[in-house]
Formats: sequence, structure tokens, C-alpha cells
Amino acid sequence: MSPRPVIIDCDPGQDDAVALFLAMASPEDVDIVGITAVAGNVPLALTQRNARIMCDLAGRADVPVFAGCDRPMRRDSVTAEHVHGSTGIDGMDLFDPATPLSDRHAVDFLVEAIKAAPDEGITLVATGPLTNVATAFGREPGIAANVREIVLMGGASREGGNITPSAEFNIFVDPDAADAVFRCGRPLVVMGLDVTHQVISTPARVAAIAALDNPVARATASMLGFFHRHDSAKYGTEGGPLHDPCTVAWLLSPGLFEGKPCNVSVETASSLTAGHTAVDFWHVTDRPRNALWVHSVDADGFYDLLTRRLARFGGRAP
Ligand code: RIB
Ligand code: CA
Repeated sequence: MSPRPVIIDCDPGQDDAVALFLAMASPEDVDIVGITAVAGNVPLALTQRNARIMCDLAGRADVPVFAGCDRPMRRDSVTAEHVHGSTGIDGMDLFDPATPLSDRHAVDFLVEAIKAAPDEGITLVATGPLTNVATAFGREPGIAANVREIVLMGGASREGGNITPSAEFNIFVDPDAADAVFRCGRPLVVMGLDVTHQVISTPARVAAIAALDNPVARATASMLGFFHRHDSAKYGTEGGPLHDPCTVAWLLSPGLFEGKPCNVSVETASSLTAGHTAVDFWHVTDRPRNALWVHSVDADGFYDLLTRRLARFGGRAP
């Protein structure tokens, strides 16, 4: 089967970086048409640079990288340096990337690439605030029909919020964009905190990645060594949840996950609960089941997949 064309919209972020590595290690499964950066964990100038650094490390300077929206559609910016550090990828040694930044705006690229999608459509993987995606849909609503599915990291239901008591960061930063995407009518696969909090980067799992001893694995282990210090203290776990790679892992091995078709709606009006994802898990309303709400994962299987794919970048076999 030929690899599916995907666009990865992200805000690197250590966990976004690992999602990029997983995708770039899997050319037989995903054909990365482009990477679009959005403001999120850190400002856009850093998220676009960080995405390009990951392309360099993975030897994929061929992947076009675009900078997109530098702030939410209608709200003030919110960033997460307290989680990711001032660079967004604290924990690894930074360098100026050789991978170029396209001079086209990410939203222009999204519109054109989605318009030009093949018959089976193009898949959007979104691991940051949904500002770029929603802006593209808003500019040309007709392009959504060319989207095969949107696999996104965002939202929370049973886990509660991680940036406010009731909202997960990606949705909270731009709830208006999230609301537009959740209403777009295309198939959504939603990896919320309910599932991503099950994939904890424990010391043993990080050590297995470090033992691969290649540049990508070393960078991954170093970033995770930094990334989990905040979440370990916050959640009392022996590592941080590896949120964003769950999206790419779904494309590579959907059998690792379990989900339920549900209505997922986004709160945009309340100042108390803005960005909350109301997941109608028991279908107590007649709202349409617009999303597959993923609620379970084989965590060992996830890390086995991730480690085996990172081993493709050289060094020692797992
Ligand atoms: O809430 C976790 C999400 O917010 C992840 O995508 C992380 O990278 C941040 O963007
Ligand atoms: Ca992210």
C-alpha cells in the first residue's frame, strides 16, 4: 500500500519533535507533504526553527517547512515555556538548522496543498493549537472536502485540563479555531489527555531510546529528560506524557488504540471554561458524533513502535 500524504501542523515542543521523528522514520507509511508551524508552546519564530532542526537531525531537509499564524484567531497569545523551556525544546543542544524555511505562509500552503490533494484525500496531523488549520478552512471552506481525516492531539474529558481546570493547552490557546475544526464535517481522530496521559516516558523507556545511540535518539532522550521534569512533579508520575506522537502512531498502528465515536464540542463563550472539550461519551444528546474520541492505548506497544522506528536513524538495534 502506498504511503498516505500528510501535512503535520505543529508547535515544537519536545513532544511535537518526537512526533516529527516518528513520521520521518516511516516513509513507507506517511508521505510528509509539508510541515506547518504555528505559535503555541513557544512563539512562532521558535516553533518554525525547532521544526527545521528536527528535519536536519532526521536527514530530511527535503521536507518543506512553513511558518503560519503567530497568534490565535481572536484571543491573546498563550505559551508554555514553563513546560517546554524558553527554547521550546530545552534538553537538547540547539543549532542553526540548514533546512530552509519556505517564504510561503503556512496557511497559503495548506490551502493549495489540500486543494491539490489526490482522490483519496490528504491527512492533517495537528499537534498544536488549530489556528493554521481553521484559518485555511475559513479562507476556502470548500477545501475541507479534500481532507481524508484530521488526527489531532487536543482536548480532555475524564483527565481534566492541564492549562486550566477544564481545558487542555492546544484547545485552550485557540478555542475559536478548535471549534471551527470540530465543526468542519471531516473525520476527526482526537487524542486527548485521557489517552496521552497513559503513555508516560518512564526512565526505562527513555533509556531504551538512548541506547539506540543515533543523533535522533540521543536528541529524543535528552529532550524527554527535560520535558518530564514539570509533568512528573505535577502528576506524580515517573515521566512525562508523550502527547503528540500518539497522532502519528495512530497512522502507523491504529490497533494500539481504542476509541469511541462521540460528539466533541468546544466551549468558546465562558471565561471560566474556555477551551473545554465537552465529550458526549454516553451519547446523552442528539449532537452528531463528529469525532473518534480515543480513550485507551497499549503503552508498551506504543513505545516499542517508537523505539523500533527511531532505530531506523542508525546506531544500535533495539
Ligand atoms: O497539552 C499538550 C499539548 O500542548 C501538546 O501538543 C504539547 O506539545 C502542547 O502543544
Ligand atoms: Ca504540541
